[in-house]
Amino acid sequence: MIREFFPVEGKTYEVLLITSSNLTPIGVVRESNILEFTIFEGKSYHDLLRNSEAVIQVVDDVELLVSLAFNVFPRLKFGKCKEVSLRKIEGYSWIEGYAQCKRTIISDFLGSSRALKCRLQPVAVGVTKTVPRAISRADNALLELGVFASRLLVARRRGIKADDLEEKVNYLYKMYKKLGGKSKIAEVIYNLSRRESCEG
Ligand SMILES: Cc1cc2nc3c(=O)[nH]c(=O)nc-3n(C[C@H](O)[C@H](O)[C@H](O)COP(=O)(O)O)c2cc1C
Repeated sequence: MIREFFPVEGKTYEVLLITSSNLTPIGVVRESNILEFTIFEGKSYHDLLRNSEAVIQVVDDVELLVSLAFNVFPRLKFGKCKEVSLRKIEGYSWIEGYAQCKRTIISDFLGSSRALKCRLQPVAVGVTKTVPRAISRADNALLELGVFASRLLVARRRGIKADDLEEKVNYLYKMYKKLGGKSKIAEVIYNLSRRESCEG
């Protein structure tokens, strides 16, 4: 089933990671039957250092994924997992497992950042049948907006000028609106990017 969720080895897929106290979107890459991901220092990072249990959920709702990256929590229903002691969101397929993580330092234009490189060994999988959502360019723009805006906020916090990220955020927000996107999370992200820009 892992191969059906993530058909291409080495390709990055965006999913939801659930750890003992947090939910956040991450990119995972399948290598054989293992799911690999990198998580920068934050709540999930500290959770995984204490407790290796993790759940990966395959979520086709971009608004939900992006909202969780900005700590906007919509009403969600949680249910029990099969093997691990965590709870998962009802309505989406999931993969339970134990993440073996190694500390690392990642250096890029944002400077040096603490991170964990993790390998998740699946121990249980659950599949929920839902009507598939049609692909939307507005959703694609929102996903990218979320990724670039979260990096922009890190740059701001570190006092690093990031004009190219700002340009990307502005462009993606405009694209999202042009393509008919209506989610409030886009406004939240855009305003957050602009407000911090004015304060900085
Ligand atoms: C679509 C998307 C994918 C993301 N992928 C990752 C990722 O692979 N690793 C990561 O550390 N942060 C990723 N982020 C950023 C996190 O959601 C978030 O900013 C932070 O890293 C998690 O902090 P937390 O563990 O304190 O919630 C992603 C954000 C978005 C919108």
